[in-house]
Amino acid sequence: MTVEDILVDGSSPEGGVISIWTLNRPDKLNALNADSHRAIKEASVRANSDDSVRCVVIRGAPPPDAEGKRAKPHAFAAGADISEFSGKDSDGVRPFFEDNGWEAVWNICKPTIAMVDGFALGGGTELALSCDIRIASDRSTFGQPEINLGLIPGGGGTQRLCRLIGYGRTMEIVLSGGMVKAEDALGMGLVNRIVPPEELESETMSLAQEISRKSPYTTKVAKRVVRGALELPFSEGVLMERSEFVALFDTEDKEIGVRAFLERSDAKWVGR
Ligand code: COA
Repeated sequence: MTVEDILVDGSSPEGGVISIWTLNRPDKLNALNADSHRAIKEASVRANSDDSVRCVVIRGAPPPDAEGKRAKPHAFAAGADISEFSGKDSDGVRPFFEDNGWEAVWNICKPTIAMVDGFALGGGTELALSCDIRIASDRSTFGQPEINLGLIPGGGGTQRLCRLIGYGRTMEIVLSGGMVKAEDALGMGLVNRIVPPEELESETMSLAQEISRKSPYTTKVAKRVVRGALELPFSEGVLMERSEFVALFDTEDKEIGVRAFLERSDAKWVGR
């Protein structure tokens, strides 16, 4: 995986970056092997600890030149690397799945966006689901085909999909192992937006920039509180929201934001 930082335009505090992660095994449709998980976990640690990182965008490398051979399709990630499953028993696979990249991404405290172009299957759909927002090209395909291997999703797919698109649709996807076209994924709320492939990068980066220009303190609070809706009973979630909302009144960024609105100027956040 390659990690590249691009500066946030007009970032305040200054020096904010969007961290762009590119899964880089296009010959294998960016299938997630042990090295991919190691790199994702390392990059997740840095995304959490480095104050300059405002937002993370995850994408798959495009296919290499075919050089006369059959062209490989575009992929975000076509799943866990199936070649690493062969001959493994539960003891062999457990350590890897207990400490995996999907949870590392899910646990990033800053906003995350999956930029999907092509196949996002199995662990690829699960990686997209571990992000907060999914933007896909209209030639993308999603699915949880593990059932065809005598398996089930193991990277949180059953749980995150169910919370995102509901029980019945999740059951259909998990039990059939079928492919879900981008347009249908949009209809069921699996993705936030679909765009033509040539607009995918600009659309995604423009949203990443917009999010990255908010107070870095407040975006973390917002993410934590919305996440509460998945984990907490409703009334506890409402209490959590109220308590976090009230606490924001002790931050400098709340004063800065309110003053900027009243003065019709741009807020210059300090991140606290
Ligand atoms: N793990 C390991 N290798 C994979 C892979 C995966 N999940 N998905 C694709 N690849 C590899 C193929 O083995 C092939 O390698 P090769 O060129 O060295 O033979 C290469 O990526 C290209 O894939 P290929 O199957 O030839 O492309 P295609 O256009 O014919 O089909 C898919 C594309 C996505 C339909 C097909 O690759 C597929 O079904 N992949 C597995 C999806 C899956 O079950 N994921 C869940 C895993 S738990």
